[in-house]
Amino acid sequence: MCGIVGYVGERQAQDVVLGGLRRLEYRGYDSAGITVVADGELSVGKRAGKLGNLEKALGEEPLPPATLGIGHTRWATHGPPTDANAHPHTGGAGRVAVVHNGIIENFDELRSRIEADDHVFKSETDTEIAAHLIELQVVSGVDLPTAMQRVCQQLDGAFTLVAVDAADPDRVVAARRNSPLVVGLGEGENFLGSDVAAFIDHTREALELGQDQIVVLTRDGVEVTDFFGVPAEATPFHVDWDLNAAEKDGHDWFMRKEIFEQPRAVADSLIGRRGVDGLLQLDEMRLADEEIRDLDKIIIIACGTSFYAGMVAKYAIEHWTRTPVEVELASEFRYRDPIIDQTTLVVAISQSGETADTLQAIRHARTQRAKVLAICNTNGSSIPRESDAVIYTHAGPEIGVASTKGFVTQLVACYLLALYVAQTKGTRFGDEIGQIMQQLESMPGRIEEVLARADDVYRLAREHVANRSVLFLGRHAGYPVALEGALKLKELAYLHAEGFAAGELKHGPIALVEDGMPVLCVVPPRGRDHLHGKMLSGIQEVRARGARTICLAEEGDTTIAPYADELITLPRVPVLLQPLIAIVPLQLFACELATALGHDVDQPRNLAKSVTVE
Ligand code: G6P
Repeated sequence: MCGIVGYVGERQAQDVVLGGLRRLEYRGYDSAGITVVADGELSVGKRAGKLGNLEKALGEEPLPPATLGIGHTRWATHGPPTDANAHPHTGGAGRVAVVHNGIIENFDELRSRIEADDHVFKSETDTEIAAHLIELQVVSGVDLPTAMQRVCQQLDGAFTLVAVDAADPDRVVAARRNSPLVVGLGEGENFLGSDVAAFIDHTREALELGQDQIVVLTRDGVEVTDFFGVPAEATPFHVDWDLNAAEKDGHDWFMRKEIFEQPRAVADSLIGRRGVDGLLQLDEMRLADEEIRDLDKIIIIACGTSFYAGMVAKYAIEHWTRTPVEVELASEFRYRDPIIDQTTLVVAISQSGETADTLQAIRHARTQRAKVLAICNTNGSSIPRESDAVIYTHAGPEIGVASTKGFVTQLVACYLLALYVAQTKGTRFGDEIGQIMQQLESMPGRIEEVLARADDVYRLAREHVANRSVLFLGRHAGYPVALEGALKLKELAYLHAEGFAAGELKHGPIALVEDGMPVLCVVPPRGRDHLHGKMLSGIQEVRARGARTICLAEEGDTTIAPYADELITLPRVPVLLQPLIAIVPLQLFACELATALGHDVDQPRNLAKSVTVE
């Protein structure tokens, strides 16, 4: 939520910073702004709306040549998305400029303190106070790093702050508490970004900052301290993301490209999981086998799409390991006084690794002595860093705000976790685990088969542009798929879309069904006859009330024809793995319907990809 860029080097700062913002725009697109330091002065350009507005303005009237600058793309929290509320914000004398991600919770109190001294504020943001306070410090004679330290000591809440001082034209200073910030290390130049996408055009070498750290960036070096100036260590890492992965590659939307990348993303997420002895291994394991064997409960916490991946995980983990699993929204978890101890494994699923609710939830879990395992797509992010074990989902950068390849790779990681626990606890034989792994390894090919029929799904989607309400039904592992399919449609097409467990229909939701209403039904494979038959009954119930059913059913399922107004066939796979393929037509459906409605699929209204505020 909010993208931040900083640069110091030899190149034109305006170009480098705008390039970084372009790659971070998925984090927020309510406004954008940039400040460069040239000839001892700050020059600021900012505009409400998408980055294109700022680019247009700077195209007509560029900022002066400069080799140091900062930039911001905003997801509004305090104050509407106007030019005045766009970052960077400057102090009263126009000497210091600041960009910020997060929420400064005590901004009101700090603001009233200095308003008494005739400080005038130009915006409604919580950020502007930081610019004023840092400026007051440098005006009093301390240097920018010291000013940043002193101000950070006064701030409550979550923040990444990046500041420049017109009188100190060779360095950029940044601080982080509970919001993301990474450093890119170049030759004669250095970078800051909310994530590595900001600088992967320029460097693959990066530093991950810890909590409550300050970084001072010059052309030739990077120094890290804590908020009191004590030298601190940051962790170096190499970025192996493919730069092309951050381009659209001929597709109209990043999202569509990412849907089509899913076979590769799933394959990559499975690579290297079996050691020479054939046993499964995780990416980072700071948990002893003993601790896994002693587990008596697993609690999965996540938000949004990641939460639905967690719901699928429950079916697999309980079935393969006989360990009870609870799945909970991260935002609810910590406020209900959950019963957890050292025999509980808390699994945090997060594509970004920065979702504030999930991060706070794992911190809470650790204070209760629970072990935490992260399933995450973003190296160097906070959630894996603060966990005892990590499974990385090798999806590569996901730019489309609505998660697609992030979701399927989370499913893969959940299956791997379930099998790893089964292996360690001995609840499944090695050959059974090997067999499931083989099935998983065949899934990229199955997803390809679904994608090969994308045109049929697109045609169907375009037929539904006039509908204002769509239902999704599923059972068992197909139920979270129904929920995720509905979420995609809400996010992208702004339609009333709801997912239901098919068995629950008759307890209320069936009242929503009207003549002609589209109902997408995820039909379980026939191998589970009981489940399959019950699903058909549910479909029959909505058809009897006039629904137009679009059924996703496995190929060769001859029983489905009388129930389906439209049929989307899926390859034959085991019931627990079906979500990996069943979600794909639903993603395509939402993407195409939103496109047909003329919406911006990659940047849906009001949303942001990474929600770093609670
Ligand atoms: C936001 C995104 C969703 C995502 C959710 C959780 O709401 O728009 O696509 O599922 O955050 O994000 P995470 O990075 O923790 O998986």
